[in-house]
Amino acid sequence: MLRSVVFAALVGVVLAADLESASQFWEQAKDVGHIPTAAEPTTFRMMAVAAAEEEEPDYTCSRTKPCKLGCCGPLDATGVGACGAGPDFCGADVCTSNCKWKSECDPGWGLEWSNATTCPLNVCCSKFGFCGTTPDFCGGNLAAKPECSGRSSDAKTIGYWEGWNGQRKCGRMAPEDIPLGYYTHIFYSFAMIDPKSFHIAPMDTETAAHYDAVAALKARQSDLQVWIAIGGWAHNDEGPYRTAFSDMAKSTKNQDAFFESLVTFLFQHNFDGVDIDWEYPVAEDRGGIPEDYDNLVTMLRRLRERLNRTGRKFGLSITLPASYWYLRGFDIVNIEPHIDFFNMMTYDIHGTWDSTVKSIGPYAFAHTNMTEIDMALELLWRNNINPERVNLGLGFYGRSFTMKDPGCMAAGCEFTDGAKGGECTGTAGVLSAAEIVKILDDGATVTFDPVAAVKIVTWGGNQWVSWDDAQTLKIKQDFANQRCLGGTFVWAIDLDDGTLIDALGSNLSRPKSLVYNGTYYQADAGTFVPQDAL
Ligand SMILES: *[C@@H]1O[C@H](CO)[C@@H](O)[C@H](O)[C@H]1NC(C)=O
Ligand SMILES: *[C@@H]1O[C@H](CO)[C@@H](O)[C@H](O)[C@H]1NC(C)=O
Ligand SMILES: *[C@@H]1O[C@H](CO)[C@@H](O)[C@H](O)[C@H]1NC(C)=O
Ligand SMILES: *[C@@H]1O[C@H](CO)[C@@H](O)[C@H](O)[C@H]1NC(C)=O
Ligand SMILES: *[C@@H]1O[C@H](CO)[C@@H](O)[C@H](O)[C@H]1NC(C)=O
Repeated sequence: MLRSVVFAALVGVVLAADLESASQFWEQAKDVGHIPTAAEPTTFRMMAVAAAEEEEPDYTCSRTKPCKLGCCGPLDATGVGACGAGPDFCGADVCTSNCKWKSECDPGWGLEWSNATTCPLNVCCSKFGFCGTTPDFCGGNLAAKPECSGRSSDAKTIGYWEGWNGQRKCGRMAPEDIPLGYYTHIFYSFAMIDPKSFHIAPMDTETAAHYDAVAALKARQSDLQVWIAIGGWAHNDEGPYRTAFSDMAKSTKNQDAFFESLVTFLFQHNFDGVDIDWEYPVAEDRGGIPEDYDNLVTMLRRLRERLNRTGRKFGLSITLPASYWYLRGFDIVNIEPHIDFFNMMTYDIHGTWDSTVKSIGPYAFAHTNMTEIDMALELLWRNNINPERVNLGLGFYGRSFTMKDPGCMAAGCEFTDGAKGGECTGTAGVLSAAEIVKILDDGATVTFDPVAAVKIVTWGGNQWVSWDDAQTLKIKQDFANQRCLGGTFVWAIDLDDGTLIDALGSNLSRPKSLVYNGTYYQADAGTFVPQDAL
């Protein structure tokens, strides 16, 4: 704003109003326009994109310099014009170059000036013709959020289990060590899709070695379901698997090849359902193509039919990103009827990758901030998704930073890098709940942020991690109930040392399921006395 005023004073006052508007137009485009790089996990971008311009703001044009974005409006006496959209900039009588440029959405100019009438996912169209969800875009037009006073989310407690965790040097959790009684579903992570045959494929030998051992846990907890989760973030990294989802969904022949191998797999290993973790359809930076949008709907509709034809009741779900950027590749309205539920990944909202996102920058923020989670869910409410078909994602891990200045350790202070990798998980920028518990035992400073509903732990001078402990997990669980959600899910069972699932479990209104290991065992109720204790 200030910059444009100064600039206007230099070039004369004639175009001041146009330049003011052009600079706002440019700033908005820049804010909404950051394409994440392939190495970044799910980052949080509530706003849409117009262009991926990384250069300095440039909202003026001249006879020799066209607009980087938008149409070049009339030139002043010095030959300088302002860039913008709509009839004021693109109209035949005023425009000097780039005059065919159309805005992303229509703020009321008509389709002559805009590519589309509305925005993806029903988000708001700003007066400049960009899509987004903040007040700059929506004014007061916010989505109505569901409100409940019951305990809807207690119905499902899903845990993803990392099949590869045995490869860690410590903090491992074998199938027989998975805590039972509280999880209603174990989602075995991950299997892959073979890029040539489209058959379900092992991720690696270790990960594929425990299907039957995990399914066998059903004999010890009779209401337990075990599903296979297919995909995950790394599936769509650069490499041979990157386009396997797109290619599979492209034709009914390829879909059928996948379905037949999946059904065989489910029967062979006695699994109860499948969770499709495609990260992400349509997203160019994740190997996606525009056709994914419709193909995913067709694929899920046909998969539902195929699963039903088996005569057994198999479950079907998909994961969803918590960012507008990636979520707009999902036709959630038309997907909803074909699946049991959506698992919304409301974690990883911030991390070291923020440093390359111009609208955020290298500032430490919590990765499971409830304010931002509530905003992410709004994208569903705008589309009338039934909250009962949505599960809230909970992290059994923290996102960590090495801070720049040991004197500035609060949320919003600058970071230089991820915090040092944990002793067992060994990756900078992330720590398992079990590792954070140990850091706390060794003496660390804990700050509770009641609005974001997170804990921030600092130690070793400049080390910082945000995570959910027993207290904040219960707050998020209460929030899931308040929003009428159908369940919660955790990433991942094996990152916990038992502390977090006990906390979640202790705040459920349903009783702990009976666990059988020789004799029935029930932790709290004491309704059954094991034979050998008498
Ligand atoms: C409008 O559509 C054209 C053609 O598909 C595209 O090149 C342009 O980037 C779109 N404009 C915006 C602002 O997205
Ligand atoms: C599949 O079976 C479920 C019940 O398990 C039913 O609700 C659904 O309508 C069926 N869908 C199709 C496409 O047959
Ligand atoms: C939580 O999110 C809000 C809104 O984006 C932000 O203002 C706040 O600083 C965040 N808190 C933390 C601890 O990251
Ligand atoms: C846990 O559950 C009870 C109801 O069973 C509720 O009153 C309480 O506020 C919940 N939340 C926390 C943070 O303990
Ligand atoms: C049964 O399993 C539970 C949970 O893993 C464990 O705490 C308990 O000690 C076991 N009981 C027996 C009798 O082995």
